Amino acid sequence: MIDLFDKFDPIIAEKQGLLDAGFRDPIGIVMEKVLSPTEAVIKGKPTILLGTYNYMGMTFDPDVIDAGKRALETYGSGTNGSRCLNGTFADHVDAENALKEFYDTKHAMVFSTGYQANLGFVSALVGKDDYVILDIDSHASIYDGCFLGQRHVVRFRHNNVEHLELKLSKLPADKGKLVVLEGVYSMLGDIAPLVEMVAVAKKYGAMVLVDEAHSMGFYGPNGRGVYEAQGLDGQIDFIVGTFSKSVGTVGGFVVSNHPKFDILRFACRAYMFTASLPPSVVATAATSIRKLMHAHNKRQHLWENIRYLHGSLTKMGFTLGTKEPESGIISVMLADQGQAIAMWDKMIDLGVYVNVARPPATPPGTFLLRCSLCAEHTREQLDIVLGHFGTAGRAVGAIS
Ligand SMILES: Cc1ncc(COP(=O)(O)O)c(C=O)c1O
Repeated sequence: MIDLFDKFDPIIAEKQGLLDAGFRDPIGIVMEKVLSPTEAVIKGKPTILLGTYNYMGMTFDPDVIDAGKRALETYGSGTNGSRCLNGTFADHVDAENALKEFYDTKHAMVFSTGYQANLGFVSALVGKDDYVILDIDSHASIYDGCFLGQRHVVRFRHNNVEHLELKLSKLPADKGKLVVLEGVYSMLGDIAPLVEMVAVAKKYGAMVLVDEAHSMGFYGPNGRGVYEAQGLDGQIDFIVGTFSKSVGTVGGFVVSNHPKFDILRFACRAYMFTASLPPSVVATAATSIRKLMHAHNKRQHLWENIRYLHGSLTKMGFTLGTKEPESGIISVMLADQGQAIAMWDKMIDLGVYVNVARPPATPPGTFLLRCSLCAEHTREQLDIVLGHFGTAGRAVGAIS
C-alpha cells in the first residue's frame, strides 16, 4: 500500500523543524478568551490583536449581539438544510435585503462563506467555452472557482493594466469573458487601479467581478468598497464580499443588478449543496451591515489608525508592502522564512498577535508579517505595538 500521506512529509519535517528550534506552531494559536475586538488571551496572556480583519470592530457591538441572541432563541441553532430546500429563514432574506440596501443593488445572494461565494459563483457563471481573466495574485477561492469549473483561465501580472489589455486583446471576440479583480489585495495590502482595469475590460466586452472582501465598510462615501471610492458605483457587474471581516461574523455574498442574477440559486453548486448559515449568524450580519452604512466615525478612526501605524513603522525603518497607507492591511516585509517566524514568535511573546504569511499565500519569495487594523484600536494600544515592533525587529535584524 502506498501511504497517501507520504506526500506531506516535507511539510511535516518543516513544521517539526520550527518546533525543534523553539518556535510556536504558526497554525496552532488558540484564543483562550476574547476580551474585545482588539484584545484576547493567548497562552494565559492578554494579547493585542493586530491580525484579525475585524476592521470595523463589529464583533462586540451590543445591537449585533442582541440580534444574534434573538434569532438563536426564536429560530434555534441551525437550519438543517440548503438554501434551496428548508434552509431559507426570514433572517436569510433580511440579510440579503440589508446587502441590497448597503450596495444599492437589485439582487443579493448569501453563501455560507466568502470562499464558497467565489467558488460557486465563478464556477457557475463562467461556462466551459468562456474565459476567466484574473490577476496572478488572486485569492485562492477565485482560483478554486476556476479549477472547479475547469475553465479557460488567463492570468495577468499583478495590478498591471497593460498586461490585462494584452491578454484580453488575444482572446476571441465572440467568447464570454469575466475579468476578476480585488479591491484590496490582502497580502501586500495594495489596492487595484479599478478605473483603468474596468475601462479595459469593458473595451473588450468582458463582464467584471470585484471581490471587496477587505474594503467593505470603510472605502467610499457609503463604505461599499474600493470601487465606490474610485467612482465606479453602478459600473461593476458583480461584487463579491464576506461577512468574516468588517461585518464581524461568517458568510459570503454576491450582489448585482443583472436581471437574470437570481437564476444562479439553481446553478451554483456551492450554494445548493451545502447547509445555509445559522439564523443567529445571518441576523448578526444584517444588523452589522445596516450599522456599517452609518459608521462614519468608526471609518474615520480606522483611517487615522492606518495612517499612524503605517507612518510610524516606516519611520522606524521597516519595509512595508505599500509605500503609502492604502488599506487596513499593513504588511511588514522580511528577508526570509526564518526571520519572519522568529519575529512573529517574538511579537507573541511580547503580547501582540499578527499574521505570518509565506508562499503560496504570498507571491514567490515573499515573507511577511501582516497587520490588520481595527477602528477600535486605541492610540495607546498602537504605541505599545510599535514599541514591540522595535524590540522584535531589532532582535531579528529586520531594523537596526
Ligand atoms: C479576497 C478574499 N476573498 C474571499 C475570501 C474568503 O472569505 P471567507 O473568510 O468568508 O471565506 C477572503 C478571505 O480571506 C479574501 O481575502
